[in-house]
Amino acid sequence: MYTNSRPYIFVIAILLTLFGIYNYVVYNTNGYVAAEKLSPLAVKGQQLFQNNRCWSCHQLYGLGGYLGPDLTNVYSNENKGPLYIKAFLNSSVKSMPQFNFLEEEKDALVQYLKQVDETGIYPNYDAEIEATGWVKLKYRNEK
Ligand code: HEC
Repeated sequence: MYTNSRPYIFVIAILLTLFGIYNYVVYNTNGYVAAEKLSPLAVKGQQLFQNNRCWSCHQLYGLGGYLGPDLTNVYSNENKGPLYIKAFLNSSVKSMPQFNFLEEEKDALVQYLKQVDETGIYPNYDAEIEATGWVKLKYRNEK
């Protein structure tokens, strides 16, 4: 039986091209991802944050333990900030244990919380759903 496979190849070529374009657009749209690269000091702070189980009592972006408050924006909170964070690290309060951190370890933790803070706002009520289905959030480092 004679079959002409050329039209099918043509259709597949078109589909592949569209697929390629689609992927290009999806992966090259800056989207709404406020990606932030942690500085080496912040990475050290992140390790301290994990190794000392801050997660067990604290949340970032609402995720974590619930004994203590969310720390996403503690750095930029006008009544709090770096010295306030260090004060909590120096002294034990309520159920937060005392940590005997070195000054540079406290600096690292503060730097980590600073960079976390720069990524966004939690809770973020400033969101709108766009026609494309993307949810557009207002980011802290958005100009
Ligand atoms: C066993 C639970 C627990 C652990 C572990 C813990 N915390 Fe806390 N933390 C608390 C509680 C409870 C408070 C609230 C105390 C208060 O308001 O009097 C708090 C408060 C804080 C605050 C002040 C937050 C604010 O908005 O007022 C900071 C900053 C903080 N903790 C950082 C840390 C860091 C960093 C770590 C890890 C090195 C850590 N905590 C580990 C329980 C904990």
